[in-house]
Amino acid sequence: MQSKIQTLPKEVVNLIAAGEVIDSLAAVVRELVENSLDAGATRIIISIISEQWRVQISDNGTGMNLANLKQAANPHSTSKITNFQDLTKITSLGFRGEALHSLANLSNLEILSRPKSPLLENENEGWRVVYNEQGKAVEVERVAVAPGTIVKVSNLFGKWPVRRQGMPSLAQQMRGIQLVIQQIALCYPDVTWQVWQGSKLWIQISPGATAKQILPQILSTVRLSDLQYIQQEIDEQEAEELNLKTSNFSQYQDSQFLDRQSLELVLGLPDRCHRRRPDWVKVAINGRVVKVPELEQKIISSLARTCPRDRYPICFIHFQIFPHQINWNRHPAKTEVYLHNLSFWQQQIELAIAKALQFSMEVMPEFPLSERVEKILKVSENTGNYQTRRSIQVSPDNTAEKSQEFGLIELKAIAQLHNTYIVAEHPTGIWLIEQHIAHERVLYEQLCDAWEIISLEPPIILHNLSSGQIEQLQRLNIEVEILEISFGQLVLLRQF
Ligand SMILES: Nc1ncnc2c1ncn2[C@@H]1O[C@H](COP(=O)(O)OP(=O)(O)O)[C@@H](O)[C@H]1O
Ligand SMILES: [Mg+2]
Repeated sequence: MQSKIQTLPKEVVNLIAAGEVIDSLAAVVRELVENSLDAGATRIIISIISEQWRVQISDNGTGMNLANLKQAANPHSTSKITNFQDLTKITSLGFRGEALHSLANLSNLEILSRPKSPLLENENEGWRVVYNEQGKAVEVERVAVAPGTIVKVSNLFGKWPVRRQGMPSLAQQMRGIQLVIQQIALCYPDVTWQVWQGSKLWIQISPGATAKQILPQILSTVRLSDLQYIQQEIDEQEAEELNLKTSNFSQYQDSQFLDRQSLELVLGLPDRCHRRRPDWVKVAINGRVVKVPELEQKIISSLARTCPRDRYPICFIHFQIFPHQINWNRHPAKTEVYLHNLSFWQQQIELAIAKALQFSMEVMPEFPLSERVEKILKVSENTGNYQTRRSIQVSPDNTAEKSQEFGLIELKAIAQLHNTYIVAEHPTGIWLIEQHIAHERVLYEQLCDAWEIISLEPPIILHNLSSGQIEQLQRLNIEVEILEISFGQLVLLRQF
């Protein structure tokens, strides 16, 4: 349900990082989408006509009643915090009450809204409000709209031509918008997204249970089966030891407050998913992708030995962190944050990545064919000359010792997969061998066995020997080979 929008007191305004929130089309999209998400929307439709500097966002969130609509674009007006203490418990994406006011100032702003669950009967209707440059409602009319909100921004920076000139190209701005949406979609996997460029559907993202289902929709080269996923709570005791849980913790507990810290990790298997640049190493905190270079570096260094050389991983890690651990006021766009106890969060990244790469039932996807595979194995066991379910015993003739003598490992091939892998038995378990690499090794060993160093005796070459001299050499048992060349005679001597 929508709470009342109020103007923040001066002392709170002074504590908030001041600065320009709207500096591009992407910033408009980011601010409006964040408002929709704060309003609990699960379906967001965005329409952009960049040449006209026009953005429209429709959502199915809580909507606003008329009183809130009139108040929404006033300076420092927000329904998300009311006082100084609230700054330490922020769980919403917005809290400064600046975006709509800035948009009223920089563009033509119009909002249509209808409350989703109205408290009063007369609030069950939609309104359209047009704002002036100061954010005052100048046109108000009743309209027929579905519950939710439609925000229309047009002619952005129309009165500020210099601002438009200093902007990146429209194509670059569209790429910026795409990134904003992709990042937010990963943080809110239960939302359906549609983005239109004029009349063309540009981006469509279907909801998923977790960010794992979203990533393949964003990166076409990534398949669902290439991703590892873990979701876990942060060990409370460990956090407490590091003083992350403050003693007066209860003061932060209220209805909208997080009750535990957690992390979610989506990791591309490093042998299959890697990129030239670290552009998909992303860290999100409480619903927003943020720049914390120390955490991104930790992801890269944790995977440096598993990724191919000079390649970077695909990794999205989303922390839910108690709000009092975070200071969002590092940057007005809230893209950078200060985090207390940075090393603790770095350690959590390291542990989570190690866990995601371990072979364990927790991270292995359920194998839907397991029953069928089991049956096939049983059948093949009876007819095949190998037994998949037999327990492996080290043979008494001490093959291990023998192999050691030659520095070899004793393996027994039992199957071949996809013409690519050899499955082999070993007393310690099953080995999977890439057969082409094994073949290369065989060729190498053969070469090693076959080659030997032979020193070549260079023959001695003498010029213009007389026949007497040649005879003399032959008498000394020296083989003489005569080469006729145009300017005389060359003699090649070889000793027997
Ligand atoms: N899409 C929306 N649905 C419902 N309420 C909204 C929406 N967009 C804005 N609002 C209301 O308008 C207020 C002002 O929005 P904004 O200027 O972005 O400030 P902030 O998000 O920091 O509170 C919000 O606090 C919210 O109550
Ligand atoms: Mg906002």
